Amino acid sequence: MGLPKREVLSVDLISINDLSRDEIMDIIKDALYMKRKKDSVPILKGKFIVTAFFEPSTRTKLSFHRAIKGLGGEVIDFIPSVSAIQKGETDIDTLLTLQAMDIDAFVVRVRRNGAPSEWKEHIKVPIINGGDGTNQHPTQALLDMTTMYEHFGRLDLKVAIVGDIIHSRVANSLTQGLLKFGAEIRMCGPEEFVPRHYEGVSLITQSLEEALDGVDVIYALRVQKERIEKLPLNIDEFFRRYQINHKTIKLAPPHAVLMHPGPFNRNIEVSDNIVYSERSLILTQVKNGVYSRMAVLKRVVA
Ligand code: NCD
Repeated sequence: MGLPKREVLSVDLISINDLSRDEIMDIIKDALYMKRKKDSVPILKGKFIVTAFFEPSTRTKLSFHRAIKGLGGEVIDFIPSVSAIQKGETDIDTLLTLQAMDIDAFVVRVRRNGAPSEWKEHIKVPIINGGDGTNQHPTQALLDMTTMYEHFGRLDLKVAIVGDIIHSRVANSLTQGLLKFGAEIRMCGPEEFVPRHYEGVSLITQSLEEALDGVDVIYALRVQKERIEKLPLNIDEFFRRYQINHKTIKLAPPHAVLMHPGPFNRNIEVSDNIVYSERSLILTQVKNGVYSRMAVLKRVVA
């Protein structure tokens, strides 16, 4: 198989909606191609990419590091807690300062919804959004869709997203991405955690039984405590009704898989004995994160 076709560059990846259905499919196929091939071409040689994460991260930041290095690029990791941010420097002044060091791109994460789009007005080099508040997390959606496509060979799937949906940027990007492929999205959780209405979503329900009936994918989400001032519900009640475990997974068909963006809270939204079970694609998602991000970097930066 030859190299997949290279598209015209589109700079920045702020939202999953910056990409068309065809562009998403190109990224997925390129990611899976690079995963199979292993020895990647050093297309980022001589490029300096800053990761500026103003919110904590394990998977997103380090898989970007792995992806950048795998493509022969150089990573500069900006760490706010030991930077001039502590002396009152603003985030945009920080980015402008780093840009003046002749860097080639930013990967950012920030608490404020919409901040990466605002920064774009002032920053010349490409920005890849590694998550802004409750708004968007496009590379998570891409790695999740890559994982689903790898497993099922198609994306017009029935997907139930379960848990704290209204505080989740992952739920937004994934839903909007999958809807482009004709997927059927269901949202399930306590009423405090699900929207009343979501464009294109066919079912929003408090009933796990209803949500998991006939699904292909159960996509569990963490209760995002850091975004919630006062928990609107009792956490025991949450896990009693919504935890995915050996018992509740039976509400879904035997072929259905469990996915989760991580980090998961063991024995809250997912039980201990199911996180790494044969039904779980959680570590495959992590692995695919490296290759999906390589495919994104190739598009945006190389
Ligand atoms: C998610 C995030 O930060 O949005 N994690 C991730 O990137 N894998 C989800 C979360 O924090 O719950």
